[in-house]
This record gives sequence, C-alpha cells and structure tokens, in this order.
Amino acid sequence: MSFKKIVLIGGGVLGSQIAYQSAYCGFDVTIWMRSEGSIGRTQPKLDAIHKTYIDTINVMDTPQGKSPLVWAHGIADQDSFSKEECLAKAEKAYKSINLELSLENALKDADLVIEAMSENIEQKHDFYKTAAPLFDEKTVVVTNSSTLLPSMFADDTGRPEKYLALHFANSIWKNNTAEVMVQPKTDEKYFNEVLEFAREIRMIPLPLKKEKSGYLLNSLLVPLLDSAMDLLVTGVSDPESIDTAWKVGTGAPVGPFQILDIVGLNTAYEIAAMSAAQPDRPIPYAYADIAKMLKEKIDKGETGVSAGKGFYEYGKKDEK
Ligand SMILES: NC(=O)c1ccc[n+]([C@@H]2O[C@H](COP(=O)([O-])OP(=O)(O)OC[C@H]3O[C@@H](n4cnc5c(N)ncnc54)[C@H](O)[C@@H]3O)[C@@H](O)[C@H]2O)c1
Repeated sequence: MSFKKIVLIGGGVLGSQIAYQSAYCGFDVTIWMRSEGSIGRTQPKLDAIHKTYIDTINVMDTPQGKSPLVWAHGIADQDSFSKEECLAKAEKAYKSINLELSLENALKDADLVIEAMSENIEQKHDFYKTAAPLFDEKTVVVTNSSTLLPSMFADDTGRPEKYLALHFANSIWKNNTAEVMVQPKTDEKYFNEVLEFAREIRMIPLPLKKEKSGYLLNSLLVPLLDSAMDLLVTGVSDPESIDTAWKVGTGAPVGPFQILDIVGLNTAYEIAAMSAAQPDRPIPYAYADIAKMLKEKIDKGETGVSAGKGFYEYGKKDEK
C-alpha cells in the first residue's frame, strides 16, 4: 500500500461511501467536517452504509446473491468470498472511521486527501486555499467532482503536480469503477499511485490521461440519453421501441429510458436545461423541448424509479 492515512473532505453521500469502502479495505480513514451539525448528518449515513454492507454480504451468501446483478464486487470476489471475513471487515471499518472537526488535525500526516465537498466552485476554491499550507509535504490530493475539471483548482492546492481527479460512482460497493484523471500539471508518479489506491479499495481503475469533462462514462452516456430523448420529443418513436432498438441491437441489459428512470429525471432535466441554454452544442438536439418534456413529467411527480414512475411504472413497492 503506498498510502496509509486517507482523509475525506465532506461526509455527504459520496464522502461517506468512499470513507467506508476505504476503511473496509484496511485504510486508516478520517472524515473532516466543518461543524457538529455535519457530524449529526454524516453519522446516520455511515450507519446506513454499514447496514447496507451487512445486508449485501448476507445476500451474497445465498444462491440469488451470485447473480451478476446482485453481486457487489467492491465487497468481495465470488471465487474467494467468505461471509465471516467480509462481516468482520465491515465491523472493523464501521468502528474505525474517525470524524474530525479540526482541519489541521485531520490533514496531519495524510497520505491521500479526497475532496468530496458539494459541487460549488467558490467553496472548493476556498477549501483548497485554506488547506494548502496545512497539507503535509507528501500529501496527494484528489477531487471527486463530477462536473468541475481539476485544472480549475490545481494551483489553489499549492501542489499541482500532486493533484488530480478520482471520480467514483454512487453505491461504490456495487458500481465499483474509479475514473482517475490527470490535469495538465499532474506528475505521472502520483497518477500511478492513485490508480494503485483505487485498485486497493477494490475499484476498477479507469485511467484518463487527458482532462475530459464528463470523464469516460458520461462522455458516452449523456449523448446516448440525449439522442434517445431527441427521438422521442421530435415524434420519431416511443420509449419502449427506442429502448428495444438499443437492447436487442447491442445486447445491453437496459435501454436509455430505463437508464433515465434510474438516474432520476431531476438530474436529466438540469442537464437538458443547461444544454438548452448553450446554443452552440456540437449536435443540435431539441434540448428546449427535451427540458419541457422532462419538466412536465417532474411536475406530475414522475421522476423515475425512486418515485415509482418515470418513463415506466415500477409498482407499489418503489412508491414508499
Ligand atoms: N452523488 C453522486 O452520485 C456523486 C457521484 C460522483 C461524484 N460526486 C461528487 O462528489 C462531491 C460530493 O457530492 P455528494 O453527492 O456527496 O454531495 P453531498 O451534498 O451529499 O455532500 C457534500 C458534503 O460536503 C460538505 N460541504 C459542503 N460545503 C463544504 C465546505 N465549504 N467545507 C467543508 N465541507 C463542505 C457537506 O457538509 C456535505 O457533507 C461532488 O463534487 C459531486 O460532484 C457525486
């Protein structure tokens, strides 16, 4: 292991998942947060993640748990799975995570700092500038930002050669990819160390040797979803037929409208509204009509799987 002490900045949805997964894989983990109030919000998240790991490990020990749709590769490999070992690792992880209010204490002796604060440009600039003089000489710093390029903050950190992006997906115990992306000033040595760390916490590391907005997944996914919605709003076809074309034609398990329901129509709407406001998009999809169609569905409460209805219906169970 090239890193020992891992520090999370922000204990929100992703920060708490990354903290738990890193502790599960044997790292010494601290989450820094600004106030007692933040601890009150993060601890229940850690409790819920712990329960999810325990429940998932128990399901992985049953025949249905072996299904590729259920198995959580972030937790264990199928051929070496031991329920007892995984449960012991989860218990140890849960008890070992430190919650720290002092930034100075949190950053002391840190090998890797993972910034997982809210997606707010000014607050990220402020954080890096405040933390720069407190970082240990050896500390490598990464951002989990989904939409902001690391080059925007590299100089704030005071160590641009040791700064890059490490981008996780939500539910990292199951969706275990980690996109590792340089910015122009990143030294390859630290790029390789972060790739290695991603492997050590059971992620599949996906290297990006150039900065790219949207990383790999969203660079592929967003155009697919945009095309699908364009085919719908321009009256070419319907969601079921478009999904069938994609699924049967490529062997993919789900189609774009099923993906939209999983992602949630609120997020899809925000992206479409942003695209509609940028007139010089490379492909002139009917973004304004797409945004209007999504807004109408959102106003009816049809926001996707979590609401029980989006482009498809998901039954009573999901309506809770
Ligand atoms: N939610 C996702 O699915 C997802 C997936 C991949 C990456 N991300 C990225 O991860 C980052 C965090 O997203 P999230 O969904 O966990 O957000 P979140 O809102 O759940 O959590 C944000 C955390 O940052 C803390 N925070 C906010 N401002 C702060 C400040 N000034 N100083 C210190 N802490 C501060 C909040 O208290 C909270 O704990 C974002 O950059 C986002 O783009 C999110």
